Amino acid sequence: MSESRNILVTSALPYANGSLHLGHILEYIQTDIWARFQRARGHQCLYMCADDAHGTAIMLKAEQLGLTPEQHIANMKAEHQRDFADFLIGVDNYHSTHSDENRELSSMIYRRLRDNGHIATRTITQAFDPEKNLFLADRYIKGTCPRCKTPDQYGDNCEACAATYSPTELIDPVSVISGATPIEKESEHFFFTLPAFTDFLKEWTRSGTLQDGVANKLSEWLDEGLQEWDISRDAPYFGFEIPDAPGKYFYVWLDAPIGYMASLKNYFDQKCEEKGLDWQEYWKKDSDAEVYHFIGKDIVNFHALFWPAMLDSAGFRTPNKVCVHGFLTVNGKKMSKSRGTFINARNYLDHLHPEYLRYYFAAKLTSGVDDLDLNLDDFIARVNSDLVGKVVNIASRTAKFVSKAGGELAGELADRDLWQQFVDAEPRIAEFFEAREYARAMREIMALADAANAWIADKAPWSLAKEEGKDAEVLAICSQGVNMFRALMTWLAPVLPETAKKAEAFLGIELDWHSATTPLAGHQINKFKPLMQRVEKPQVDAVLEAAKESLAQLQAEARPLSGPLADDPIADEIQFDDFAKVDLRIALIAKAEHVEGAGKLLKLTLDLGGETRQVFAGIKSAYKPEELEGKHTVMVANLAPRKMRFGVSEGMVLAAGPGGKDLWILEPHEGAQPGMRVM
Ligand code: 2FM
Ligand code: ZN
Repeated sequence: MSESRNILVTSALPYANGSLHLGHILEYIQTDIWARFQRARGHQCLYMCADDAHGTAIMLKAEQLGLTPEQHIANMKAEHQRDFADFLIGVDNYHSTHSDENRELSSMIYRRLRDNGHIATRTITQAFDPEKNLFLADRYIKGTCPRCKTPDQYGDNCEACAATYSPTELIDPVSVISGATPIEKESEHFFFTLPAFTDFLKEWTRSGTLQDGVANKLSEWLDEGLQEWDISRDAPYFGFEIPDAPGKYFYVWLDAPIGYMASLKNYFDQKCEEKGLDWQEYWKKDSDAEVYHFIGKDIVNFHALFWPAMLDSAGFRTPNKVCVHGFLTVNGKKMSKSRGTFINARNYLDHLHPEYLRYYFAAKLTSGVDDLDLNLDDFIARVNSDLVGKVVNIASRTAKFVSKAGGELAGELADRDLWQQFVDAEPRIAEFFEAREYARAMREIMALADAANAWIADKAPWSLAKEEGKDAEVLAICSQGVNMFRALMTWLAPVLPETAKKAEAFLGIELDWHSATTPLAGHQINKFKPLMQRVEKPQVDAVLEAAKESLAQLQAEARPLSGPLADDPIADEIQFDDFAKVDLRIALIAKAEHVEGAGKLLKLTLDLGGETRQVFAGIKSAYKPEELEGKHTVMVANLAPRKMRFGVSEGMVLAAGPGGKDLWILEPHEGAQPGMRVM
């Protein structure tokens, strides 16, 4: 056994602004398998993660939800942690970048950069929303493309003609947040002097830290010349104030990777009674510990340029490897909300066992940056054929004969040559895991499972068992079957931790990598219980249905239709004039219809006493369309039309209740006629 290593692994910290989807889960599964493999081999391996909790988007989302940013990120963190746990992602700590540890470390690192002369300041001009008093990042400005004149394009590029420009060039620009016309405003910003690290980075990116393709891409950027990196944002911003710079905040990407350190510090602070390395040992220059970041290919510049440069300036070690993976596609295409293949972690978990996906991803993961496709038919076929049909089958067809003979495995192997194939494969399997070539590891394992099954089928212990005087032979064959199953499960344990636990209960031992190919002889096993069910197509269909529902819900949530719960705090006080702006009218529900593909919405045709409006209302859970037709209700008649996936919604009906079946539209008493104003 090689010397024990101290390893720190991380996954990219998800934004505390939305639900995790299967693209996130791909990365966590990749990381978790690696961490579990290292632990199985006897190494100390800590897996740290956290929510990435800062930035304008999170601040605005909290405001929209009527929450403080702290409440919003606490809710998201709880949701994310549930998803991690239910996908069996065994993080050792899940922290937040909005934490005392991260504030302290970010300030410390910033001060070191500054004292080393790596922070520059200068005044820049930026778009500013005069109504919200907020500087606007490019994605918060929309307008007409200056080149092709397509309206409704973002501030930095046109989706129609692919032109890139600065937001000041947009025709009729508006702030996405308030609708106001942005003005230009000056402000002092802080910059990290990245170009000073060009030589360091040229060396670092070629020192075995990155896959070749990734290093090549970075070479292009390094040769073109690096730019200074703007690390400050003006108030209002949800983040950490920069030391000695009131009203200036660290840009979210400055403190995000420091969150890896902060999570480790928090872990050690909680576990101070445990002996072992101090958290700082992992990060000091010349540390013996190893650090690995698992990330997606979209955030390479942050992890392989800015982050190592910051670490170097601040006197810390740099990571051993930044392990970059590609994106997840579903049925060959980018996950897409409109195709209904944008699958949230919870959509999956509500209908399918996490290990199916863990195995499927493992069976397709390489160390490369190519995209990985979740083909749902292939998913069903592969899981059923490999896990249920091959691996579990070895135990289920042999265990019963061992049990019939008293449950004690034979003292000798029935076929030493076959066993030797297992012995020889072990180092290859280990190498593949270490190199993140999980697909190749799975292929080795499944090839052995095939060999085992073919051998068992050939020996046919079920036939022998019917013959006189063959008991010892039957026991020898089936004991080898159980031993082969044990070896395979040991190697699959990083991928299938829950099934591995069940296998341990059956085998009456702990699975241990280093003894997997030393056969159990004369050992008592327990009664075999089914380890895994087949995946059925209706379960997969239910996941897709749930994904569509979640999307419709998100859209419905964009309008606070279901209204506040009775125990929600009353919203901020408004003036009479504000209230008078809302034009509430009595409307007759002339028609109510289901909307194809929308889980929560009904399409209503409302009669305002002459004028008709089409409104999509998220009340399907509470009403059948036919119950609604002919009713009078109250609507907001002067709400700007909103384009939704299913059409334009021209207003909003009022309803109250916590949601689901408990949702009631407002129904005025007789006498109130369509079109009447409600005051
Ligand atoms: O791209 C993202 O989702 C970021 N929240 C990842 C941050 S990784 C690390 F730097 F914190
Ligand atoms: Zn254009």
